[in-house]
Amino acid sequence: MAWYPARLCMLGVKLMTVLVISSALACVSDTASEGISGTQFDYVWKYSKLPPPAQYGNILISRLTHSSTQPPVAFSHWVHRRFYTCRVCHFELNFAMKTNASDITEAMIRKGDYCGACHNGKIAFGINDSTCGKCHTGRINSSDDRFSLLKDFPKARYGDEINWVKALKKGLITPKQSLFNPDYEPIPFEKILRLEPERGMIKTRAIFPHQKHIDWLDCADCHPAIFDIQMKGAQRFRMDSINSGMFCGVCHLTVAFPVQDCRRCHPDLN
Ligand code: HEC
Ligand code: HEC
Ligand code: HEC
Ligand code: HEC
Ligand code: HEC
Ligand code: HEC
Repeated sequence: MAWYPARLCMLGVKLMTVLVISSALACVSDTASEGISGTQFDYVWKYSKLPPPAQYGNILISRLTHSSTQPPVAFSHWVHRRFYTCRVCHFELNFAMKTNASDITEAMIRKGDYCGACHNGKIAFGINDSTCGKCHTGRINSSDDRFSLLKDFPKARYGDEINWVKALKKGLITPKQSLFNPDYEPIPFEKILRLEPERGMIKTRAIFPHQKHIDWLDCADCHPAIFDIQMKGAQRFRMDSINSGMFCGVCHLTVAFPVQDCRRCHPDLN
């Protein structure tokens, strides 16, 4: 298995501690692409290899096209999130946060719903005989050649390897919060929640900064479907459920920085 040498490598680092710093550095770069996080928990959760950075957050929509003459539709998050926040699509335009879960049809798009809210020949290319193939590519990698547009963005370790929090803060991008209301301003929410572990033995406290989410998302994207605050106390987030796509895992496995980046949520973890 591909992760096997990486495991040995981590063990080596533990045994030798910092004696051979250069070999430790070599391990970090070797293991990054294997999705190993470099914490004491590497043996607990094994994550499968991430897609190449240019394809992280890319999806193929195939709910209807699997039985049509048109190939599936490529949609890339990094192409779109430079210009629009998640809120625009996942709140205003009602796209589900799950591939193939929205009832998109070609007829609705032509009427101006879903993709058609922008792909109308005004905001972005419209639907005509010369554009079918731009969406119906049938390939997950169809925007690879344009990924170099983001080469100067601040870097992250995993996923698309872009630190979107910093890109936004530095003003490298100014994604629209609303397609319909130019005056829309999200409600500020500065308090950072500290999510305490169920078992107090290990320092796993996770942080949840509302503000860094509201910069992108609507309250209704999370409440109550993903996080029901009525159920506070009864609701337990565990890594197992996050890894299986619940709670934080709705976004942090597929589009936002992935779970492999442990310390962005667990600042004290070692
Ligand atoms: C802006 C992107 C986009 C463009 C451009 C586009 N489509 Fe689609 N099309 C979609 C999406 C998204 C779906 C839903 C895919 C699914 O569920 O499999 C779809 C579905 C379809 C379907 C499946 C059946 C149905 O009624 O929905 C057909 C057929 C189709 N498109 C044909 C075309 C043709 C022909 C063109 C060019 C004239 C075209 N599309 C251009 C995005 C696009
Ligand atoms: C331009 C529109 C658009 C924007 C902006 C957008 N999304 Fe999406 N997103 C989609 C579409 C379309 C789908 C697929 C829906 C379907 O197939 O029913 C999707 C799917 C998803 C999924 C499911 C992925 C999977 O692998 O199944 C998640 C999670 C998600 N989006 C999160 C986000 C987050 C977080 C943001 C902001 C950082 C965001 N999206 C921004 C359009 C968008
Ligand atoms: C909120 C507006 C908006 C929505 C909704 C939207 N798009 Fe786009 N899309 C854009 C814009 C703007 C661009 C041009 C980006 C650029 O110039 O880099 C674009 C570019 C694209 C491209 C070209 C990517 C490339 O590599 O050149 C594809 C393909 C695409 N969109 C597909 C879709 C599909 C499929 C949907 C619906 C599932 C969709 N878009 C929904 C605004 C939107
Ligand atoms: C997107 C944020 C996020 C990321 C990334 C993340 N976690 Fe967690 N983790 C949480 C939350 C939320 C909890 C539940 C609250 C708590 O225990 O602090 C949690 C709980 C835990 C726990 C407590 C026991 C358990 O089973 O839940 C451990 C251990 C843990 N995480 C380790 C990790 C490791 C190792 C990584 C990297 C591989 C990681 N986490 C990545 C959010 C995250
Ligand atoms: C990315 C998802 C997400 C978004 C977006 C979001 N929240 Fe939350 N919210 C959470 C999580 C996670 C918690 C902690 C839940 C728990 O402890 O059970 C929380 C807790 C809360 C609480 C309880 C606060 C406390 O101190 O325990 C309130 C009130 C709240 N959110 C309001 C909002 C409002 C208002 C918005 C929009 C401005 C919003 N949330 C947007 C995820 C989100
Ligand atoms: C609905 C989607 C969604 C959910 C659910 C979600 N996040 Fe996020 N989160 C994002 C997006 C988008 C960002 C911006 C950064 C990015 O896209 O990589 C972000 C950023 C963060 C950051 C900021 C990291 C930094 O470098 O400043 C932390 C910490 C974080 N999330 C933790 C969590 C935790 C913990 C949970 C679960 C309790 C959670 N998130 C649930 C979408 C989500």
